[in-house]
Amino acid sequence: MYAPIYLLSALVPFALSQSIPAQLFSNLIPQKVLATAESLPAPIQYPQYTNEVEPLSDATIGDWLYFVPDTWTSGFFPVTLYALNTRVKLCGATSRNGLSAADWLNLGRATSNGLIPLELQNTVGHDVGFLSFPFVEELAINPTNQTALTAVNQFAADLAARFNPIVGCTRSWDTADPTDFTVIIDNMMNLEVLWVSYGLTGNETLRHIAITHADTTMKNHIRPDGSTWHVVEYNSTTGVVIRKRTDQGYANNSTWSRGQSWAIYGYANMYQHTKDPNYLTTARRLADYFLTNLPSDGIVPWDFNAPLLPPPRPADSSAATIAANGLLLLGSLETSPAAGQKWIVAAINLLNRITALGWQPSWQSLLANGTVNWPVNNLLTGIVYGDYYYIRAGNQLITMGLATCSG
Ligand SMILES: *[C@@H]1O[C@H](CO)[C@@H](O)[C@H](O)[C@H]1NC(C)=O
Ligand SMILES: *[C@@H]1O[C@H](CO)[C@@H](O)[C@H](O)[C@H]1NC(C)=O
Ligand SMILES: *[C@@H]1O[C@H](CO)[C@@H](O)[C@H](O)[C@H]1NC(C)=O
Ligand SMILES: *[C@@H]1O[C@H](CO)[C@@H](O)[C@H](O)[C@H]1NC(C)=O
Ligand SMILES: *[C@@H]1O[C@H](CO)[C@@H](O)[C@H](O)[C@H]1NC(C)=O
Ligand SMILES: *[C@@H]1O[C@H](CO)[C@@H](O)[C@H](O)[C@H]1NC(C)=O
Repeated sequence: MYAPIYLLSALVPFALSQSIPAQLFSNLIPQKVLATAESLPAPIQYPQYTNEVEPLSDATIGDWLYFVPDTWTSGFFPVTLYALNTRVKLCGATSRNGLSAADWLNLGRATSNGLIPLELQNTVGHDVGFLSFPFVEELAINPTNQTALTAVNQFAADLAARFNPIVGCTRSWDTADPTDFTVIIDNMMNLEVLWVSYGLTGNETLRHIAITHADTTMKNHIRPDGSTWHVVEYNSTTGVVIRKRTDQGYANNSTWSRGQSWAIYGYANMYQHTKDPNYLTTARRLADYFLTNLPSDGIVPWDFNAPLLPPPRPADSSAATIAANGLLLLGSLETSPAAGQKWIVAAINLLNRITALGWQPSWQSLLANGTVNWPVNNLLTGIVYGDYYYIRAGNQLITMGLATCSG
């Protein structure tokens, strides 16, 4: 079931003792992604999660459900196509690895087009950062693509317009009472669009907003034990914290695992951009909480504080793959190879455990065992961002010299 171990580049000067799941490089990945790309609805809609129960719709269990472009997850399928283009660059396109089946770059470009109208009007709040992902990839390929430049800068301006200097954050969700200023931990992921636009324009305001949001969140969202609150509500006119609570977690004071994984990635990313050691320390604390609170089977539960029974506590495969990417990033930024190794080994363990549990050849998604939103009974699904971060982790491992392309 697992591929042998491959060693090693100068980037990561240590030997791994555990194997990397062969499924990360399976030809089922391009097969499934291409099948989805070829059957997107017209006018375009994007997959978000898979059908969970037979009677829910015409789809069968494991089939993608599609959402209009003005949805927070719409960027993930186009950026998945760009990730397969990256994989072709890393691995070459053959019929054996399945990558010769399509022109992934053209598919990524074509499917991104449906996002462009959202630059000027959308209802996704802070999640414009996620919508910008395919355009950021486009700019890595063609830095002068004006459509992509405009998209990234406009999405960054959208997020910047949600910044409130009294609170010191960008607003995540809109609320009926505008003085109720809601910030969720997920928002840490969306700061990346500010950094990319700052890199393109040199606009210091964007950098200042990213840093201020991260510092305020460090203070109010993270508990002394390194766990996170999902939601912090501030008063927009006074800046005081009104309450801390959950939205998608088990309890108001629990730690929702996907939020924790967004936070690991988000603070590692802040450290990458600033080299401020406070962000490194924070990313380590968040990662330590995540890893030391895993159950003995190594499967990421949807909420770290949800009881095992009843009902049976489901996993969240997306939290596992997002955390794996956060840990790989943290591992690559650490101050010494030994310190980095700890996080990289943990990332590979997460990928092994979630592959063993969730790899689901008969579904349209790659992985099962996603929990979209447990409180509203949306669980046991594939999830488009879980799959994206799974593929991306495979690419990262190749780039870091820890895996070869063959399964
Ligand atoms: C520029 O980027 C957009 C959006 O990603 C894409 O649709 C378009 O094909 C690209 N243009 C060129 C010339 O590559
Ligand atoms: C920098 O970005 C901010 C936030 O989007 C914007 O208000 C400001 O006009 C920008 N400055 C310049 C010089 O473009
Ligand atoms: C915020 O504070 C203002 C001024 O004290 C008050 O009028 C408003 O109701 C508060 N909003 C919330 C959501 O607590
Ligand atoms: C969180 O607290 C609010 C206010 O007390 C309550 O209405 C809500 O049900 C609580 N949520 C959970 C998941 O316990
Ligand atoms: C959450 O609050 C409940 C009720 O006060 C308490 O029993 C529980 O230990 C708390 N859980 C955590 C993780 O702090
Ligand atoms: C994993 O997913 C399968 C298929 O939906 C389900 O039967 C199983 O209970 C899930 N396990 C966990 C731990 O979530």
